[in-house]
This record gives sequence, structure tokens and C-alpha cells, in this order.
Amino acid sequence: MSEADYKNIKIEREDGVTYLVLNRPEKRNAMSPALHYEMEDAMLALANDPETKVLVLTGAGDAWSAGQDIKLYFRETAGNPAERKRSNAASHHWRWELLNEFPRPTIAMVNGYCFGGAFTQLCAVDFVVTAEDAVYGLSEVNWGIIPGGIVSWNLAEMMLPRHALYYAATGEPFDGKRAVEVGLANIAVPAEELKSATDALARKLMKINPAVLTGTKEALRAVKGMTVNQARDYLRAKQDSVASRDKEIKDRKGMSEFLDEKSYRPGLGPYARETG
Ligand code: COA
Repeated sequence: MSEADYKNIKIEREDGVTYLVLNRPEKRNAMSPALHYEMEDAMLALANDPETKVLVLTGAGDAWSAGQDIKLYFRETAGNPAERKRSNAASHHWRWELLNEFPRPTIAMVNGYCFGGAFTQLCAVDFVVTAEDAVYGLSEVNWGIIPGGIVSWNLAEMMLPRHALYYAATGEPFDGKRAVEVGLANIAVPAEELKSATDALARKLMKINPAVLTGTKEALRAVKGMTVNQARDYLRAKQDSVASRDKEIKDRKGMSEFLDEKSYRPGLGPYARETG
């Protein structure tokens, strides 16, 4: 599949920042099987795209994503177990595995509705910038189902526990400011500032040494299931592996600029990199 073939998503590039856009605005970006196949294809390609320094996931129109498409993903695959299995695998693959393991920083730019299954990709990205008036909802209970797929697991991991149960059990919608308070988002801004705030975060991340940034996000995820001694051992080995990937780290460029040249304050910002 090539980018030109996509009908349910689109890709826009701006100086190192790649915007991956769910593009079914008339259906509030509900996720159909066809959308899942295109997203899986796009994510696999973008993971190896040298132009993508930061990946931003967003939605066209008024919605970020209204969750799984009730008609196309659930009802129309009910009598077709093979298609159900295939679309379920693609859905899990891009929303959790590929996003979680994406080699560059990932940002959700939440421009509007975020419901149900969309919480999985919301929790899989590294950072979330949200419009204050975006509407979040764990509406599953309203359908007479529990938050399935891996949504309950996502909530238990990402949200403050009391709030996770409250919103999952009541289905009550909440806004972007509340999403920050409960642990789902980093920054909430007025809708008209959403793009510039996301861009500013992306540019900030692009100044950090990419090997260190990738190593940091991998490390924070990996240590979660470890004992303290396992983490200590793992982090030592991880630092060596990060350094082996980048000459400036190996040469302790930052340390010599701070101690010998006294040319910068590492507490206040990254050192100027020689390589892009
Ligand atoms: N699955 C399938 N279709 C969906 C959908 C979903 N999750 N969410 C929205 N749509 C469709 C609607 O059926 C409608 O289609 P139509 O124009 O062919 O009738 C279209 O998108 C627009 O939806 P509408 O409800 O008219 O828009 P709205 O702006 O007034 O409301 C929502 C938007 C998101 C609040 C509302 O559509 C909604 O509650 N959707 C369900 C969200 C949900 O519970 N998702 C979790 C599923 S487990």
C-alpha cells in the first residue's frame, strides 16, 4: 500500500514532524477495519522514515476518535470470524504495539472527541497535548459492555485509580483540563493554540539527543515490571547500549562542555548537537 492509496487516514509532513491523521471526520474518526489496516501499514513505514523525527497522532474535523466503529468493526464482522480476527489483530498491533515501540517520540494532539477504544492509542503515545474543550468518555457502560480490548488495563496503568474507576463505571464525559488532572494528558490549551503547543513540544523534543530520548522512553517502560535490582542492572546495560549508538554520548560531550569549557548549563537545556 502506498500513502496515495489511503482512504481513511492521511499523512502530513512539516519539517521533521509527521502528522498521522485519522480521516473519517463524517464518522467522528471511528475506527473501521479498513482504517486499522491503513494505520498498521502507515506505522510500519513511518517507523523507518528518516524524515519523521516526531510523530503526532490526530484526527480530522471535530473528533480525535470516537472509538471502534460500532457498525463496521463490530456489527459487520460479527458473522465473519476470520475478518473479525484479522481486524482485531491489526487494531491491537498499531494502537498498542507499534505506537508503544515507535522509535521516535510520539504525541497525541487531541482535538475533540475521544471515546472507548481510542483510549488505547491515547495511552500508547509518549505525550498528550489536548484542547481544553476536547470531550473524553469511557462510554462502554452506556452500551452495556465493560471497557474491553485492553482499555481497562490502559486505564489502570495510566489514570489515578479513583478517577479511572469513577469514569469507567459512570461513563460520564470529561474535558481536556480534567484529562490532565487525572493523568491522561500533559498539557491542555485552548483549541486555537492546540497546533502551536503541539509543535512547540515537538521542536523541544527534536533538540534532545535522539538516542538518549529513545533510550529514556524505552527505559521508563521496561523498568515497570522489574524489581529494583533488576532495574539497576538493566539501566546500566541500557546506558551502555545508548552510548554505543551515539558518538557524542560516548565522548561525554556534555560533561566536557560543562566541566572544562563551562559553555552551558545542562540543568536548563540540551547541549548543541553537532549532528542532526
Ligand atoms: N461507531 C460508528 N459510527 C459512529 C461512531 C462509532 N463509534 N461514532 C460516531 N459515529 C457516526 C454516527 O453514527 C453518525 O453517522 P451517520 O452520519 O451515518 O448517522 C456520525 O458518526 C456522526 O455522529 P453524530 O452522533 O451525529 O455526531 P455528534 O457530533 O452529534 O456526536 C459523538 C459525536 C462522538 C458524541 C457521538 O457520535 C457518539 O456518542 N458516538 C459513540 C461514541 C462511543 O460510544 N464510542 C465508544 C464505542 S465502544
